[in-house]
Formats: sequence, C-alpha cells, structure tokens
Amino acid sequence: MKEKNFYVTTPIYYPSAKLHLGHAYTTIAGDVIKRYKKLDGYNTFYLTGTDEHGEKIEKKAKENNLSPKDYVDDIVKDIKVLWESLNIDYDKFIRTTDQDHMQSVQKIFDHLLKNDDIYAGEYEGLYCVSCETYVTESSLKDGKCPDCNGELKTIKEETYFLRCSKYVDKLLKHFDDNPDFILPRSRKNELINNFIKPGLQDLAVSRTTFKWGIPLLNDQSHVMYVWIDALSNYITALGFNKGENQNFTDFWPADIHLVGKEIIRFHVIYWPIILMALDLPLPKQIFAHGWLLMDQDKMSKSKGNVIYPENLIENYGVDTVRYYLMREVPFGLDGQFTPETFISRINNDLANDLGNLVNRSISMTNKYFNGKVTFNDYDDQEVNNLNKIKLEMIAKYNQNMEKLNFSRALDELWVFISYTNKYIDLTSPWTLAKDSEELVNLESVMYNLLSSIEIISTFLSPFLPTISKEVNRQINVSNKDLFSQLGVSRETYEVVSNPNPIIPRLDKEIEIDKIKEQMKANIVQAQSK
Ligand code: ME8
Ligand code: MG
Repeated sequence: MKEKNFYVTTPIYYPSAKLHLGHAYTTIAGDVIKRYKKLDGYNTFYLTGTDEHGEKIEKKAKENNLSPKDYVDDIVKDIKVLWESLNIDYDKFIRTTDQDHMQSVQKIFDHLLKNDDIYAGEYEGLYCVSCETYVTESSLKDGKCPDCNGELKTIKEETYFLRCSKYVDKLLKHFDDNPDFILPRSRKNELINNFIKPGLQDLAVSRTTFKWGIPLLNDQSHVMYVWIDALSNYITALGFNKGENQNFTDFWPADIHLVGKEIIRFHVIYWPIILMALDLPLPKQIFAHGWLLMDQDKMSKSKGNVIYPENLIENYGVDTVRYYLMREVPFGLDGQFTPETFISRINNDLANDLGNLVNRSISMTNKYFNGKVTFNDYDDQEVNNLNKIKLEMIAKYNQNMEKLNFSRALDELWVFISYTNKYIDLTSPWTLAKDSEELVNLESVMYNLLSSIEIISTFLSPFLPTISKEVNRQINVSNKDLFSQLGVSRETYEVVSNPNPIIPRLDKEIEIDKIKEQMKANIVQAQSK
C-alpha cells in the first residue's frame, strides 16, 4: 500500500509582499503533479504554505505600522484566494507561525543541540537581508548579492551553528548512489563545485539581531534563523513530533520537493544534513525549476518587476494561465511570459486545435445522429492509425510526466489532438452523410471521435481541470477519472445539444495591448509598496 502514496511540496513562500506569476508557476506545477498521480491511483498529499519569520518581514511590518503577524495575515489571506482562483488542490497550507509547527521546530533544534549537531559560536560576515542569508566574499557581484543584487551589510553576532562538515561524506555518497536525487541532473556538479569542494561551511542557524522568529528553548536571546524553521515545514506539516502523525508515517519521505533554482542549495545540502542528524530518511527527489524572467532579470518581489496572475485569470480563465506556463516554459529552464505567445497559445492550441475538435465532433453527432451514437464494429481503415497514435501518445505522455517534462507531455498530447482533427478530414463525415449505405461507417467515425475526445480530456485534466470538466459535461462522461478505467469502452455516447465553445477565439491585437497595459500597471503597483 505504501508505494501508492505520493507526497509533493512547493517552497513555502515569504509573505513579504503579494505573490506573483513566479510563485504561481511552482504552485501550478505541484498541482499538475498531484492531479496526475491521483489519476494514476495514488493517495496524494500536496503541501504548500508560507515562511513567515525573519528580519525582512519584521521590517516590512514596521514600515506598515503593523505587528508582523497582522502584516502576514493579510498577505496570507490573499495567497489563499490566489491558490483558489488557480484551482490549486493542496491538502495542507502550512504557516510557520502555526503553533504546532513552532513547537515541533523547537524540539528539532533541541534534539540537534543535545546531539552536538548544533553548537554555539560567533559569526561575522556579509548578510543579505532580502535573501535572508550570509553571502561569501568570493560570490559577490559588484559588491552586491549575487542572487538578488541587493545591498549587503556586515554583521557580527553570537550564533548557533549546524555542524555540516560532519555529514559531507555521507551526503556526497547519497548523491552518487541516487542519481535522480537532484534534478535536473546538471545541477549536481555545479553545487558540489561551488559549495562542497571549497569546504562546506557550518550553517548559522540562530540570530540575536531581530526578534521575529521562533525562540530557542535553551537561550531566549536567540531566535531561529529562517532555514531550519522553514525547511522543517516539510515534516512538521505531516505531524512530525506530534502524537497524531499518521500522515508522517504514510507520506515521509517526500517524493518530490519542487523548488526554484535559487534555493536548491538549501534543499540538497542543508535539508538532508538536518534530516541525517535527525536520523530520518531523505526526500526522494528535489527538482529545481528555472525562473520566469522579465527582460533578462528574474521576476521578483524585491525588484517589483512582476506580473500578477489575477487579471489574466479574470480575463482569460484560469486554465489558459496554467496551460501557458506548463506548455511554454520547459520545466527546468528559464522562460518568459509574453502577451504575444500567451494569446497565440490560447488561439492556436486551445481555441483552434482543442476547441474546434470538440465543437465539430459534438455538432456532427447532433446533426447526423440526434446527439447519440452507439459502438459498432465497422472496420474503418482510418481508425487503426488513430489508435496507433493514441497508444504512442499515452506512452510518451506518461514517460514525460514521470520526468516532470510537462511541456513535452503536452506536445505529445497535441500530436494526438492534431491527428484526431486530421481523422475528421480523412474520413470526411459530410460525404459519408450523403450516402445512406455509409451510415454504419459514419456512426463509427462519430463514436471514435468522441472516444478520442474522452481520452484527450482525461490527459488534459491535470493541466486544465476546468476545461476538462466542461468537455466531459458536453460529452456526458463525468465518471471516468482514473487511468486504470480508460480501457473500458462505452456502449454509447450522448452529447449535449447546444455545445458552448470550450474557449473563445480572441482578437490578437486588442488583447495583446490590454495585457501590456496591465503589465505596466502591475509593476507600478508592486513598486509603490
Ligand atoms: O525562497 N520564476 O521564498 P520566496 C520562477 N521562503 N519561480 C519563482 C520566481 C520566478 N521569477 N519567483 C519566485 C523562499 N518563484 C523561501 C523558501 S522553502 C523551505 C523556503 C518561486 O517567497 C520559486 O519556487 O522567495 C522560488 O523557489 C520560490 O518562489 C521562492 O519564494
Ligand atoms: Mg526569493
């Protein structure tokens, strides 16, 4: 039973400002994985949440004349609304200010301290407030933070350290024994060369220079530095250190931690070290995806060069945003949102290829058979190719989904969608309809079309849950939602008599201008905060 459980997580985001399309990108990807695994018959647990402590949030709250908790409460409320509007089916939303998380983290810290994996010391170094991390001299870019280009300050403070050196050999062995632990694989050597080869520094894990954090049980003048607090969320959310921990038993170790590439270091070096110190199994896989860029820069809260997803969802529907991000940006690489490609994807892929297929098939079923067709065993030449391409699609779609190669999985699905459109031209139903002796053939063609559409709708559903549901409603098949049931043929299909277009075609020029205006307004809004 246990191997049929699947646990996927996103980073927990800093609620220091309103979230943008970059955060939506990770969260949509996690949702796609969860829905895909669910279709495949897994029990799934999808975790997301917010990382609420630290100096930056303390500062932001002060600027807004709010307590840190009141400040983050407002932002977290908006985040939950955003995830709802993006149709994110998470199982738990963890906040690091949750009492049970804080207590569990205090116990984790205490345990590491007692085992001498954490020790008291002193630290002096250059610190980036925006990234909540010390930065080494050698990595600086023009004297600024190499990740966010932010200002650095020199800090000297009494600090507790996580003893990392002790675990380096074990960690490297784990990398070697598990080639898919870090994905894409290319990131592994980069990490080893930059952080492990030069000698892995012990990690500072407490602070005395700000107050907004989880206090140490043994030393009230310190609060926990965000990374132990934050990383532990992946186990505290499952009830680790609590009496009630069935989820921990069922779902740990995690199957996939999804992260952006800028925080992979924390997930493949420090998080495994914390887990080894706790004597817990390591996550199976950490996948670092690329960045959404604005011009050449990372879209980021601190720069304010952002796109908010809300207007796009409102104007074009949630599935267009989900589809665009998963299709247009190969997972693992950097990518861009452009209004031009966004509208093209909607018009070409969704309105034309998919929408027309569904609409034509339903209209013809209504026209020729009053909306209802029954399976027959007419031996139609064309259907052999259609079936062959369908089976190829299923195999390749699954292969790519297992590798989180979402754009390729969708490419493969679209090969089948295009071929199904071609099947209409090849069989030419309007010609068959003129010949009363071809009625059996015609009914078979309609049946094959509707059955293809049902398959397409199932494979679309992790990405486009809303559109998939609407397609299912129009062909009246709402009850098949597991891959294992796909082979079961239906006796009949009965379609709705008045199909709405699945997705309307847009006027390209008008919409591109609208989005451009909106993007400008988003940046003004983000930078005025
Ligand atoms: O790093 N492109 O929180 P954060 C793609 N609290 N993804 C992006 C992105 C972009 N331009 N901008 C943000 C933190 N993301 C910590 C994490 S985890 C224990 C603690 C996504 O608010 C991406 O997943 O800075 C990235 O890793 C995450 O948001 C960073 O969110
Ligand atoms: Mg960040």
